[in-house]
Formats: sequence, structure tokens, C-alpha cells
Amino acid sequence: VIDIRRLYAQTGLFTYDPGFTSTASCTSKITYIDGDAGILLYRGYPIEQLAEKCDFLEVCYLLLKGELPNGGEMKGFVTNISQHVMVHEQLSRFYSGFRRDAHPMAILVGVVGALSAFYHDVMDINSKEDRYISAIRLIAKMPNLVAMCYKYSIGMPFIYPKRKLGYAENFLRMMMGDPGDDYLANPVLVRALDRILILHADHEQNASTSTVRLAGSSGANPYACVAAGIACLWGAAHGGANEAVLNMLAQIGDVSRIGEYVNKAKDKNDPFRLMGFGHRVYKNYDPRAKLMRETCHEVLNELNLHDDKMFKLAMELERIALEDPYFVERKLYPNVDFYSGIVLRALGIPTEMFTAIFAMARSVGWIAQWDEMISDPEMKIGRPRQLYQGVTARDVKYISGR
Ligand code: ACO
Repeated sequence: VIDIRRLYAQTGLFTYDPGFTSTASCTSKITYIDGDAGILLYRGYPIEQLAEKCDFLEVCYLLLKGELPNGGEMKGFVTNISQHVMVHEQLSRFYSGFRRDAHPMAILVGVVGALSAFYHDVMDINSKEDRYISAIRLIAKMPNLVAMCYKYSIGMPFIYPKRKLGYAENFLRMMMGDPGDDYLANPVLVRALDRILILHADHEQNASTSTVRLAGSSGANPYACVAAGIACLWGAAHGGANEAVLNMLAQIGDVSRIGEYVNKAKDKNDPFRLMGFGHRVYKNYDPRAKLMRETCHEVLNELNLHDDKMFKLAMELERIALEDPYFVERKLYPNVDFYSGIVLRALGIPTEMFTAIFAMARSVGWIAQWDEMISDPEMKIGRPRQLYQGVTARDVKYISGR
């Protein structure tokens, strides 16, 4: 690793690195990825163990505070979160300003950004305590804000959260329940959603997290920074991938057509890519994709959907692609989103909500990274350089002479 800042100060040398493929923008103690070995650790703990032994809120505590909570600490944390699950009634009214057919991510960018208009009382970014309260507020309110996007889109009344329910269960109830009923979520499905949240909670300096950090580096408030992260996540190359995977599988339609689509993905004159395949950092099987495939099996078994056409299609596509020299040479493996869409669909969640659920999960990562950045004494405003390739200096003529 070369500290290019020192080299620049001494020699004026700087690097050209579009897409930041080989430039670290910060130091971090939160998440570690070894892309060649397919390893992902949150604060040193393997993702496989966290997915097995913890729930999402324990992982939130870990990401925010650096250590897993003991029983007493967890109780306090859960109480703290549950005190902040409600959304200000005036913020609820924002939803009616959107068209019903608006994409949930379009609404989410707006309402999360608007949180800064409600909580400016506790938003001193130089206060550790204020930063922590902002984090709690964001994590607590996200399920409610996301579920409201859905309820609004189908013309149903919003469902208030129940403080005594777990995080994933509360979300499923707010999404799927009716105001009068006693919605009881299936524990296998609750656990599957919880696992999706754990697997998406953080992923070091991906595009949306880097966006949050860049926005925050100017001193912007946390909700505005997270709204910027949500905007970035929306793109099909990032958080929109699981939605794109399902659309792709629907387009392929049948196992007999997989070869045709694999060939399309290999054709350099065709912009089509296999969605849910490839990753900037993983040049091995994404460890989250393995866990997601297991979860997929569990959920489909629970729901007696062993013969789910999409799942069979996905597994066959994976098999064929992983035997194809094009994908092998480029180390293109399924990423987390290859199977997460199938699980979410089995949970009854409509496709257009997938990225919003990803945003709900990633909010803790964004806010933990934002907090880490603000606490860093070396923090500087983010200001990438460029290689100018336009025309050289020239004189302006008056319009009559041009
Ligand atoms: N299908 C076909 N070819 C691919 C794919 C794919 N899904 N992904 C990469 N390639 C090819 C590229 O065409 C390129 O080939 P070349 O060397 O012959 O030009 C080579 O593999 C390297 O690809 P890059 O685009 O340089 O890799 P990069 O690291 O920039 O992109 C990305 C990573 C964006 C994830 C890419 O693999 C992709 O578009 N995948 C599909 C979208 C997707 O699943 N996104 C989710 C990412 S995970 C997440 O956000 C949670």
C-alpha cells in the first residue's frame, strides 16, 4: 500500500483510478472483505457465524459499537430502538404528495432526507451522543418508512409498529398486515428476513457507502447523507440487482433458454449482463450468496414450494455459467443478490420493494461508517481529482464574431 498523499506532497505525483478499483478512500475498523478467499467479517466476526448465532439488532449493535452485546446491553439497545420506531405524523403526510405508482426508492430518498427537518434538535455532528441518537432513530424508523411506501402504493392505511415485536417481525406485520387483524408472521420467514438484513448490513466501501461518506465529509447531516446513499443504491449495478435478477429470470422463462442468455451476456456488442453475477471485490463465491442459497432452500421447503420454477432456473443458470470459461476466467460468481430476490418473492414481498428492503438493512452500515468517518481525526472533505482532457486555454470572442 502506497500512501499517495505523502508522495503527492513530495513529488506532485497523483493517480488515475476511475471507479476507485485500487484506491482506499479511508481506513476503517468495521468490515473486512477478502475477495479472493470469499471472506466477509463484521468487526472480525465471520458473516456465517453472525447469520447463525445473532439477530439483526445484535449485528446493528456490533456494527455501531464494535462489540457484540451481552444480555443486559442488548435489552437496553432493544428498548432504545423500540422508543424510536414511530414516525412523526407530519412526516406520514409526505407520502400523500407522491403519485401512488412512484417507485418506493423515489419516495424513500425523499422521506429519509426529510428526517433532517424533524430532528434538527439533536443533530450536532461533533457530538458523539447526538450521532448515536441519529443512528438509533434511523435504524428504528426505517422499517416503518419502508413499509409505508408499500402501503401507500396499494392504497392501504399505514400500520403502526408494535414495540414488543422483533425488528423483522414488526416489518413483516407493517407490510403484510391489515389494520384490524392480528397478523402472525411465520417464524421461518421472520428468520429468513432477519438473515437477509444481516447479510446486507454492511459491505465496506461500496458505492452507496462511499456516497454517504463523501456527502458526510462536508459536514452534511446524517439523514441527508443516508438519503444520498439510498439514491446511489437504487442503481441496477448496485442495490437494484436483486430486482433485476428476478426480471431477468422471468425474461429467460425456461431452462431451455439459459444458453441463449449466457451467450448474450458474453457478447461484447450486447449490453446485457447476467444480473446477480460478478462483484468488484469478490473474485470467488460471495459468502453471502452461499448463505442466501441455503435460506432459499429453507423458505421454499417451509412454504412447500420445492418445485419453484424461478429457483430451479436460478440454480441451473448458476451451474451453466460456472462451467463456462468466460465466467471462470473472469472470476464471475453469483453475488448476494442472485438468490435474495427469490427469497423475498417467496416471503410475498413485491419486486419493486426489494431495493427498499436492502436500504433498510444497509442503513446501519451507512450510519456506522458515517460515524466512524466523523470520529476520525484525519477526516478531510472528499475531493477526488481528475485528468483533464478538454481543450487547452483559448480566448473568448464576442458573440458577433463567433
Ligand atoms: N455478466 C457478464 N459479464 C460480466 C458480468 C456479468 N454480470 N460482470 C462482469 N462481467 C465482465 C465484464 O464485461 C468484463 O469483461 P471484459 O474483461 O471482457 O471487459 C469483466 O467481467 C470485468 O467486469 P467489470 O465491469 O470490469 O467489473 P466491475 O468490478 O467493474 O463490476 C459489477 C462489478 C458492477 C457488480 C458487475 O459484475 C455487474 O454489472 N454485475 C451485474 C450486476 C450485479 O449483479 N450487481 C450487484 C453487485 S452486488 C451488490 O451491489 C450488493
